[in-house]
Formats: sequence, structure tokens, C-alpha cells
Amino acid sequence: MLVRLLYASRAAASLTASVMDHILEQSRTNNPAKGITGVLCYSDDLFIQVLEGGRDEVCELFNAIVRDSRHVEVRLLSYEEIAERRFGGWTMGHVNVGKVNASLLLKYGERAELNPFACSGHASMALLEELIATGAVTSRSGVPW
Ligand SMILES: Cc1cc2nc3c(=O)[nH]c(=O)nc-3n(C[C@H](O)[C@H](O)[C@H](O)COP(=O)(O)O)c2cc1C
Repeated sequence: MLVRLLYASRAAASLTASVMDHILEQSRTNNPAKGITGVLCYSDDLFIQVLEGGRDEVCELFNAIVRDSRHVEVRLLSYEEIAERRFGGWTMGHVNVGKVNASLLLKYGERAELNPFACSGHASMALLEELIATGAVTSRSGVPW
């Protein structure tokens, strides 16, 4: 049983490269063993993350993520059972939204900024999918998975 979960949150403090590196390292160390794939999108102080995988694995990871003190105001944007993965190429791809074309952000939001708190879960998911399609998502090694 595969599920896809999307949430948004606010960083507890201004995001530094070392905080992001640590989160991505944890994700890429832990997620493959659990069969979890996804993408983490971030800006100055916001996260959007999509997680895909088995229902138990995704729900348990989400529980751990919600308790993580590096972010606050965790909001579940969407949760669904799925027949197949859309983000299967990424143990945890990442996108720095500060480097994304403004027109792409305007396509899905009221302003050229990441604000998942002000748009539907559907719009945030569509933005993540388009970020993959445009090649904006990267892994640290520069190659998927
Ligand atoms: C925004 C955000 C996204 C995260 N994503 C993941 C993830 O995809 N996988 C993961 O294992 N941990 C992720 N974490 C870290 C978890 O909250 C938790 O610290 C970690 O799973 C504990 O792993 P450990 O037992 O190996 O230390 C994330 C944390 C934050 C703040």
C-alpha cells in the first residue's frame, strides 16, 4: 500500500547551510532503507516536503518530522493512497526556492514566493512536480537516487 503525503512548515530559526545539510544527510541515510522517496523544497524560512512510500513508513517518518524542533507550524497539506510514485527518482531531492524562476512561482501563487500556507495543497504539489520537470530538483551528488 503506497501513500503520498505533503506538508508545509516554518523553520524554527533562519536556515543555514549546515542545518539543511544535516536534514538532507539524515533523509538520504534513512529513507532508502524505508523505501521512502520524495522532495524537500525550502526557502528562507519555509519547508514543503513530499514523502512517498509504504503507509506505515511514511506515517512513522511524518510523526518523527512533526516532533523535530528545527521547524514549527507543521501543516498537513495532502495525504492520499497512490497506485504509483511520482517522486520515485529521489531519496530526497531538494530545491532552494530562492533560485527558482519567479514566473514559475507566480504560476501557482499570488506572489513570486514560496507560500504553501496561502495556497491549496494541490497547487503546492503541482509546483513540486513542475520543479522536477524543469530540472530544478537536485541531489547532493547531482544525480537522482
Ligand atoms: C523539514 C524536515 C524534513 C525532514 N525530512 C526527513 C526525511 O525525509 N527523512 C528522515 O529520516 N529524516 C528527516 N528529517 C529529520 C527527522 O525529523 C529526524 O530528525 C530524523 O529522522 C532522525 O533520524 P536519526 O534517528 O537517524 O537521527 C527531517 C527534518 C526536517 C526538519
